[in-house]
Amino acid sequence: MFVSVAIDGPAGAGKSTVAKIVADRLGYLYVDTGAMYRALTWKVLQEGLPFTEEEEIVRLAHDTDIELKYDDRQQLRVFCDGRDVTREIRQHQVSQNVSQVARIPGVRRRMVELQRQLARTRSVVMDGRDIGSYVLPDARHKFFLTASLDERVRRRCQQLDEQNIPFDPEAIKKEIKERDEMDRSRAVAPLVKAPDARLIDTTCQTIDQVVEEIITVIRGE
Ligand code: CDP
Repeated sequence: MFVSVAIDGPAGAGKSTVAKIVADRLGYLYVDTGAMYRALTWKVLQEGLPFTEEEEIVRLAHDTDIELKYDDRQQLRVFCDGRDVTREIRQHQVSQNVSQVARIPGVRRRMVELQRQLARTRSVVMDGRDIGSYVLPDARHKFFLTASLDERVRRRCQQLDEQNIPFDPEAIKKEIKERDEMDRSRAVAPLVKAPDARLIDTTCQTIDQVVEEIITVIRGE
């Protein structure tokens, strides 16, 4: 039987960093569902499609091949129709528009289908917004990570800095706030803590502390 671990939470709560380490420690596949919505958003921008063209975007979601693969240094890389877009999908323009794409019901249906397929073939650590509440409601372990807005902004800026991606901190704060609001208020599978998810406030915790807490719960120690 395959085991699923769901890690949800708002933007910049540290989900992806933590989820990746937890997956490595357990030998499970890490699935970054946000990267899938980001890849599609990048494609919409490439095609010059207006974000109001919902039907066209749903069609594009079905026609686009989105893959998550590990390179030989065990870094997760995101491919869109065979092109490596790992870096491009972190651009501000993608971050600013991804929630608009992710709120389209037909887009979510397609992504959720792909995500559930992955969880049927492997043990996974999947991070996102709706994994515990909607994508994998029967996940064996569910966590919901939060942190204060200022701390999440600080982390995101640090991340962009490390990747040499230029940014304006005020614009990042605005983007994160707006994205969270849109993710929380959408009609289909909004950002919400599943009732049976364990809440972890990471504001004053290091990555290692959060990882240890999660691993301890999973191993039932
Ligand atoms: O890394 P960060 O926390 O900034 O966000 P992300 O995980 O890359 O997700 C980007 C966006 O994709 C989110 O703001 C949501 O709009 C959308 N998303 C979603 O709707 N459902 C998911 N399971 C994952 C991401």
